[in-house]
Amino acid sequence: MSLLIKNGRVVTATDNYIGDVLIEGETVATMGRDLAANADRVIDATGLLVMPGGIDPHVHLDMPFMGTFSSDTHETGTRAALFGGTTMVIDFVLQRQGHSLKEALAEWNGRALGNAVGDYGFHMAVTDYNDSTRAEIAEMVELGITSFKTFMAYKGALMIDDRQMTALMEEVKRQGGIVTVHATNGDMIDYLIAKHRAEGKLSPLYHYLSQPEVTEAEASSRFADIADYTGCPGYIVHLTCEGALNAVRNATRRNQKVFVETCIQYLLLDASLYEKDFDGAKWVMSPPLRQKKDQETLWAGINQGLVNVVATDHCPFMWQQKLMGEKDFSKIPNGHPAIENRMELLYSEGVHKGRISLNKYVEVACTNPARIFGMFPRKGTIAPGSDADIVLFDPLAKHTLSASTHHMNVDYSAYEGWELTGKVKTVLLRGKVAIDNGKCLMEKGNGQFIPRNKVSGII
Ligand code: URP
Ligand code: ZN
Ligand code: ZN
Repeated sequence: MSLLIKNGRVVTATDNYIGDVLIEGETVATMGRDLAANADRVIDATGLLVMPGGIDPHVHLDMPFMGTFSSDTHETGTRAALFGGTTMVIDFVLQRQGHSLKEALAEWNGRALGNAVGDYGFHMAVTDYNDSTRAEIAEMVELGITSFKTFMAYKGALMIDDRQMTALMEEVKRQGGIVTVHATNGDMIDYLIAKHRAEGKLSPLYHYLSQPEVTEAEASSRFADIADYTGCPGYIVHLTCEGALNAVRNATRRNQKVFVETCIQYLLLDASLYEKDFDGAKWVMSPPLRQKKDQETLWAGINQGLVNVVATDHCPFMWQQKLMGEKDFSKIPNGHPAIENRMELLYSEGVHKGRISLNKYVEVACTNPARIFGMFPRKGTIAPGSDADIVLFDPLAKHTLSASTHHMNVDYSAYEGWELTGKVKTVLLRGKVAIDNGKCLMEKGNGQFIPRNKVSGII
């Protein structure tokens, strides 16, 4: 089966021209201006952007967390991702303390296999690093799981200490992987949560006040130092603030590259949302939303090449689940829904409003996740031989985000009523039409696990 996309504006991290893309089977055969090619099917893309499928390298699907499960399954989450122009996600497998990485992987395979609609990969979250975990790192890399997530926070649940971090980094470096981190100071946060609870300060605002900027700046700096010492490639997930980005900026002064991911919410939303009494629980996530000055720092960081990726940290919970913390902010399940909204929000607020270029948009939303996590050039670009994961995007279409129209399995929208310019029209996944004009044409089970290559820490 061949497919020709004609007369669209083809945009990659480096290209921007009116042209055609020829797809044969699951991959791109060739592209260029006025291709003289015949195909079984032709799509006229006049007036549309033709871009690589988005890659969201930070999502939590069907994840056991804080006494409940995130509400999107691998089916509903990857389908919603496709509706929003994201053709691949990287989900987190969580090791249970006292158990092996293999057991955790078997559990996640049980939830994802045969259910995903779009493509997916796994990061392995190491929550208990010991001699037997060490022996499993090479096995995970062999299976195509080349990134290892660590938590410097969530004390008593997921957090590891600096001893484990150092030893893990040494082994991951040896095996050709990368260590990623939730970089906040877990001990300080644990103390501040306990203090606020003891003082009877229990509303969502105190979630925010328990995780001040210094907790993130300090941990980001410490992580960068340990990565520098061990020589292990490092990636900070969901970086939110000026202090933390300055820690990364400092690391560059000794010629160290630490990859940085921010998430769409930290670019667009701020901590004033926590002043809305319990409604603020919709945005209770860790780290919390910050200040407007931090948003400016993050947008600038994208343009300075310090912020490499815009992800979501999609971790949705139904309102009923959020109510678990109605009387105590520390019991509100942390996370917010965005898997479907990231590409359109970033286009509208970033490209349409002139904050970032179209090439930069593709770079941070599609190409860099593929490069950093060992999938490039199979994923993240439009090039001969690449998977034909392609989004046809109408840059002028206006629409409004709402829980009443989204496809995520969550009963509120964190962006209710936001009016956007630019909308996903058609999405191809490995050469097949997955989404067309608001309809999903792909069954669950179509999504494939994508094994990833070893990584160099250079992009
Ligand atoms: O609030 C968040 N971020 N929930 C998901 C878990 C994590 O820390 O990424
Ligand atoms: Zn986190
Ligand atoms: Zn997360």
